[in-house]
Amino acid sequence: MISETINHQAACNNTINGTINVPGDKSISHRAIIISSIAEGRTQINQYLDSEDINATIDACLQINAEIKKNDGSLIITGNNLQRIQRENIELNFGNSGTSMRLMMGILSAQKFSSTLTGDESLTQRPMNRVSKPLIKMNANIETSNGTAPVTINPTDDIKNVDHIINIPSAQIKSSIILAGLYGQDAFRITTPQSRDHTEIMLKEFGSKISLKSNAIKITPNKLTSPNTIYIPGDISSAAFFIVGSIISKDSQIKIENVGLNPLRTGFIDILKMMGATIDITDLKKVNGEAVGNINVQSSKLKGITIPKDLITRSIDELPLIVLAASQAEGKTSLRNAEELRVKESDRISSMVTMMERFEISIDEFSDGMNVYGGTIKGKKVNSFGDHRVAMTALIASLVSEGDIIVEDTINIETSFPEFIEIANNIGMNIQAYD
Ligand code: S3P
Repeated sequence: MISETINHQAACNNTINGTINVPGDKSISHRAIIISSIAEGRTQINQYLDSEDINATIDACLQINAEIKKNDGSLIITGNNLQRIQRENIELNFGNSGTSMRLMMGILSAQKFSSTLTGDESLTQRPMNRVSKPLIKMNANIETSNGTAPVTINPTDDIKNVDHIINIPSAQIKSSIILAGLYGQDAFRITTPQSRDHTEIMLKEFGSKISLKSNAIKITPNKLTSPNTIYIPGDISSAAFFIVGSIISKDSQIKIENVGLNPLRTGFIDILKMMGATIDITDLKKVNGEAVGNINVQSSKLKGITIPKDLITRSIDELPLIVLAASQAEGKTSLRNAEELRVKESDRISSMVTMMERFEISIDEFSDGMNVYGGTIKGKKVNSFGDHRVAMTALIASLVSEGDIIVEDTINIETSFPEFIEIANNIGMNIQAYD
């Protein structure tokens, strides 16, 4: 588990050039591991993300008797065929990983043992009742600590499938309900605003009966059968750092190969294009039901825009980078309807406002977002607020800063993108550990 503090210094005013690959998609890696663990048969997962958050999911799946072996960059998983496992009670520490905790709450609700789920300082402050409440309606026996972790799950006789209406556009809530429902008997529906659909796509690869009808997802529980091999595409959320870095810096051109391009994840590309960025997608194909392709991007002149509401959920994890892009655009960019940012690994509205003010960029804060005014970033010492995406965004800001940038508390980068600094330095950045 992460406990040390590491800081980094990024030299200012560089260009980035080259062709890169980024590690496997975090969201899809979680799903591939969890669903292989409850399926019948043996699954080889290639190009999975090897990071702290994914290790938290692997540790939890070992507790439900999945066999998991790491083999030459792949995972080989033999699943438990939706067996409800009996064993001694357990405590699980999910570190920083909200996805691991929330998705596993669905699975653990159906087991015949008790579990206590906790995490690091950030995770134990994040809302868990948004998941426990619908699961309790399915007869799960869950207690939270005032809506947050530690969460205690006790065995229940049966998971009972009921229809749900969920108003928060959250893939984690939706996925937790779907996974719990696989242990129930009856077909059920979830009506919810659109959010990333990797769980639905992965379940279909395992033969699940899952469909989308008039805005409701219909799930009919059945056995899951391994498709033998799953390929995980590169993580678009990791690629995003170099996409934005290349757009805002001068004389830069980057190609990123084999990146996941699920339309529910590419909202930030639409936003950047509206702002004037040149981004081309080539070699688009489908792999295990997911869109995959190459992204070509180069230095572009940006203008401020009002970000349309319907692009917020589709770009939720990249909004810190959109704030950085907006700081390099001409005029004002308005980012609203993004209250969900307040409950991420940090309060990302507060983190980005504080960081931009420190960089001497004008910014107005609202409860659901901010207005960002284009300006010049001054090289400063800033804090990551314990948030991997805020840390990496601050390091990317050095590409356009007047003076070097020091980012305190960067160890959290290990949760999602351990190769970030190596790749950044390979394409022209200069990021070094700093005492
Ligand atoms: C994720 C869903 C999103 C996203 C998170 C990963 C997932 O969270 O922000 O980084 O893998 O399901 P919400 O479900 O809370 O919107």
